[in-house]
Amino acid sequence: MKSTEELMKQDVEVILHPASSIVALEANGPDMIVEASGSYVTDAHGRHLLDGVGGLWCVNAGYGRTEIAEAMKQAAEKISYYHTFSNASNPWQVELAERLLEKAPEQMSKVFFGSSGSDANDTIVKIIWHYFALKGQHSKTKIIAREQAYHGTSISTASLTGLGGFHKEFPLPLDFVLRTECPHFYTRALDGETEEQFCDRLIRQVEELILEAGPDNVAAFFAEPIHAAGGVIEPPVGYYPKLKSVLNKYDVLLVADEVVCGYGRLGKWFGSQVLDIEPDLMATAKGLTSGYFPMSAVYLTQSIWEVLKEGSEKLGAFSHGYTYSGHPVGAAAALANLDIIEKEGLVERAGEMGDYLHQQLGEALGDHPLVGEIRGRGLIAGIQLVANKDKRELPNAADKWPLKVANACRDKGVIVRPLPSVATLAISPPLVITKDEVDALVAALRASIDELAASLG
Ligand SMILES: Cc1ncc(COP(=O)(O)O)c(C=O)c1O
Repeated sequence: MKSTEELMKQDVEVILHPASSIVALEANGPDMIVEASGSYVTDAHGRHLLDGVGGLWCVNAGYGRTEIAEAMKQAAEKISYYHTFSNASNPWQVELAERLLEKAPEQMSKVFFGSSGSDANDTIVKIIWHYFALKGQHSKTKIIAREQAYHGTSISTASLTGLGGFHKEFPLPLDFVLRTECPHFYTRALDGETEEQFCDRLIRQVEELILEAGPDNVAAFFAEPIHAAGGVIEPPVGYYPKLKSVLNKYDVLLVADEVVCGYGRLGKWFGSQVLDIEPDLMATAKGLTSGYFPMSAVYLTQSIWEVLKEGSEKLGAFSHGYTYSGHPVGAAAALANLDIIEKEGLVERAGEMGDYLHQQLGEALGDHPLVGEIRGRGLIAGIQLVANKDKRELPNAADKWPLKVANACRDKGVIVRPLPSVATLAISPPLVITKDEVDALVAALRASIDELAASLG
């Protein structure tokens, strides 16, 4: 292979990077990562960086787990690949599905495998459309998604995503999406509104939206248990049970997008189990293999499956799937990943270490004049930057505060994720992060926000 230096130069010539500025790539070159272990990655300049984001919210078991690599090697050597169309199968995917269903909310009874969070959500959209069409309810196609949601970047999931940047200069969102408000009390409550009143107002809005579109036209509601890329936002207490009862009233399905929250991050296997969500379908990916293999799993209930089965009797097949659905190497990676999570108690650890993280963040940053709110739970956190704390005024987007803080953290050897649309810094480290590493992360954040404050004079 060529030298890293040469490859970094060539990168600019040959790669269109996802969700990246081409102008910045040409100016600064790529951020080349060449090695990783535990909670640390090493860049091309040899700098060890504490990865406070776990890759892209996904490396739950930590980097460099040879057990996962070994399981993938064995599966690759034994079978390499075989498809799962036309009822083809392999032992790894069956064992994986069984293990996953043991952990999932009890109403879940079947699993569909894909390769990414986007294709999981896309699959769910299609299952929902197919489900209602098979029941003769062909007009039930509209799907409600929230502002500041992130459900992926494929054509359907970018449409569900509620962050404007993913729509600009694309003919998106498609018109099957109905948009409702983001349940963020801190930034969206009306003057004098209590959290309960805010919650009830949002639920009323959902009901009005369904009635306006016509219940015969509304099929589902998509929700991340905690919005991740949209700002690490958890809805008020009681939001999900109230939402579910409105959705039930109009035969609207509830989808939990567990792509970030699934597989332990919030201190239970799934965010739905933490936040009292009763989903009809769930999308998962990322932590399923801790990012070691691109793999997703959609969960569905028996009652949805029964309708698909009737459809298959009528039509001959459930006509949806991917070349890599149920990939044996991916399933082997996921099985080894589950072994690690179970053996090392990483789900419980996420809860305990998460409490520690939030306590440390509160102590270090709670009183900071530029920090309005510290959000999240378990090993996910969001630090809300504010220009005026009393007025809850967010900084000017053009001033790029989150990016400045993230860059300053990086200079101190710590990666955090800037979320520019809500002036927030996100943290979602590997679930194996230690107390010392949490301390280092929090100290870097504090120092970097102090630097920002000093630069403002
Ligand atoms: C909640 C959520 N859903 C879906 C996705 C899309 O996943 P992918 O990038 O694997 O397509 C993401 C990615 O970050 C996500 O955070």
